[in-house]
Formats: sequence, structure tokens, C-alpha cells
Amino acid sequence: MVSLLFVCLGNICRSPTAEGIFRATCQHRGLLDQFRIDSAGTAGWHVGKPPDTRAIWAARGRDVDLSMLRARQVEAGDFENFDFILAMDESNIEDLISMRPQHSSAHLHRFLEFNQSANSLDVPDPYYGGDEDFELVLDLITKASEGFLDHLIATGHIESN
Ligand code: 4NP
Repeated sequence: MVSLLFVCLGNICRSPTAEGIFRATCQHRGLLDQFRIDSAGTAGWHVGKPPDTRAIWAARGRDVDLSMLRARQVEAGDFENFDFILAMDESNIEDLISMRPQHSSAHLHRFLEFNQSANSLDVPDPYYGGDEDFELVLDLITKASEGFLDHLIATGHIESN
């Protein structure tokens, strides 16, 4: 079993999208039973809220339901309880590094390290943007999900079916 935590700023746009898309990618490939998947925000502003309506609608367009997810804030225990923590942008990973306990065992990455065709390692924050920005988030995250799953198989973290 591999545990993954997707992290953005508010946990209402990018990281719940990553949680839903990665889960759907695993399901399509018959690999979901090898994972525990969650998401969280570095900020606590939206704790307890569902994802942004625009994120829910955009994901629905790709047959992924985010409506049951609820925002929470990253906590110190996450660095012990998850194998991989996947940040959406540079400020997220900087915040995670600054709050990481000394003996953290989690691997910390930017998620777009696993999207070979992305020209930046940041998933742009769509919160003040439009529908096209939410579509771009989905495109970037969908490719990173495939790439990360391939990476976990290639490195022996999970078994391919
Ligand atoms: P997220 O987007 O980090 O992808 O969830 C944001 C959500 C809310 C805010 C900023 C970014 N905010 O300023 O409230």
C-alpha cells in the first residue's frame, strides 16, 4: 500500500482535482487497491468546505466526481502518515519544507516533475482565473497522474496488473 497526499494552498481547486484525477487514473488501470489517497491545503481558510464549484464542474466534464471531498489543512502528522507528499507549486513545496518535522519519512515532490511535457513545474493557481484555467489544471494533472503511476511501477512501489 502506497499513501499519497496532494497539497495546494486552499485545498479547494488544484489538490482535490489531483486527488480525484489520480484516483480515477488508478481505477481505470485496476490499481486503486494499492493506494491511500488524500489532499490538503497549506492554508486553513477553506477547512470543511467542498471544492470550488468551478473545479467540481470541470472535473465532472471528465467523468470525475469531486463533490464529496472536504478541505483540510496540512498537519505535522501528515509527514509521518504519507509516503509521498505532492505539491502543486513552488510556494506550496517551500511551505511544506518549512513545516516538515526533522524526522519526516515522506518523499516530497512537485507533482509536475512527473509530467514530462509540462514546461513549468507549477500547476498555475486557477482561483482568480476562468474556466480555461481549470481545464489547464486538469490537463497538467491528468498527464502527471499517468507519469507518476508509471514511476511508481518502474521503481517497484506498486505492482502493475
Ligand atoms: P487552490 O486554489 O490552492 O488550488 O485550492 C486557491 C483557493 C483559494 C485561495 C487561493 C488559491 N484563496 O485565496 O482563498
